[in-house]
Amino acid sequence: TYVIAEPCVDLLDKACIEECPVDCIYEGDRMLYIHPDECVDCGACEPVCPVEAIYYEDDVPDQWKDYTKANADFFNELGSPGGAAKIGKTSNDPSFVAQLPQQAA
Ligand code: F3S
Ligand code: F3S
Repeated sequence: TYVIAEPCVDLLDKACIEECPVDCIYEGDRMLYIHPDECVDCGACEPVCPVEAIYYEDDVPDQWKDYTKANADFFNELGSPGGAAKIGKTSNDPSFVAQLPQQAA
């Protein structure tokens, strides 16, 4: 799977959403999250993020390793909806993300 990391927080550019063929990039309050089971590893989202927030799971920089779990934990209650568009924005951000200080624009 691919993982969205800290640069997305409070930016939520959403260019990635347009690229995903399986609509597996979901919106939280602070950032977006890739569903680890629904992502088909097409990689289309990674180059379009203007702040390089998206990484293949093996390539997530060390300082953002917690985001691999965060992308999975976002779906603890949602399960596998099979499409982000019908779900819309939800407040399932893992607590450490929800509690991050407001990021500068
Ligand atoms: Fe976030 Fe980049 Fe997508 S900022 S919403 S991961 S394009
Ligand atoms: Fe979608 Fe990116 Fe995975 S475009 S299928 S989330 S690699």
